Amino acid sequence: MDKRDIVYTRYLSQTFHNMRQTGLLLASTDGKGKNNIMAIGWGVVGIIWRKPVFMVLVRPSRFTYQLIETTKDFTVNVPSQELEEVVSFCGSISGRRCDKFKEQKLTAIEGKKVKSPIVDECLIHYECRVIHKNDVVPSELAPDIPPMFYSGGNYHRLFFGQILSAYASVKLPPSFISER
Ligand SMILES: Cc1cc2nc3c(=O)[nH]c(=O)nc-3n(C[C@H](O)[C@H](O)[C@H](O)COP(=O)(O)O)c2cc1C
Repeated sequence: MDKRDIVYTRYLSQTFHNMRQTGLLLASTDGKGKNNIMAIGWGVVGIIWRKPVFMVLVRPSRFTYQLIETTKDFTVNVPSQELEEVVSFCGSISGRRCDKFKEQKLTAIEGKKVKSPIVDECLIHYECRVIHKNDVVPSELAPDIPPMFYSGGNYHRLFFGQILSAYASVKLPPSFISER
């Protein structure tokens, strides 16, 4: 699919909308040809250290965690609502056991500025380089955060990804553009 560069803030409301509704696709790699995708439902975009940052939260049990630790980069890809089942698959099977690109007939395109690929079938892409990481501190969680989030431990690691590049499919569906 043809893509065009965008300012990273251009489709943020749509990105958040889809993150809430369907989930986004976080792609990563081991840098030696093994690519992976996982679904994410949590994430923050903002400015830190004067840099645009996409912060994602990944549990240590995820294969993706290992891959980001290795290459120190990732991409966040915004799927259309039609890819809901793909997101669901990528959010329930581990890439340790299968090639999710192949299984879901998705196309990995080389990142422009990072080792991780993008998922071509998605509408918006953010290429990110890890500039900081931090773990959720159990004792610092407010009492109103439901314990069920961490009943098995497995506290998220927060990966702060500087957005190095953002681009969009040239043919965005009107329904996507109008999403708020
Ligand atoms: C909609 C959705 C959102 C998810 N969000 C997250 C998330 O933000 N962080 C996380 O660690 N796991 C999240 N998951 C779970 C992972 O996507 C799932 O465990 C996945 O199979 C991990 O793949 P991997 O082992 O190949 O990395 C989510 C799952 C779904 C279905």
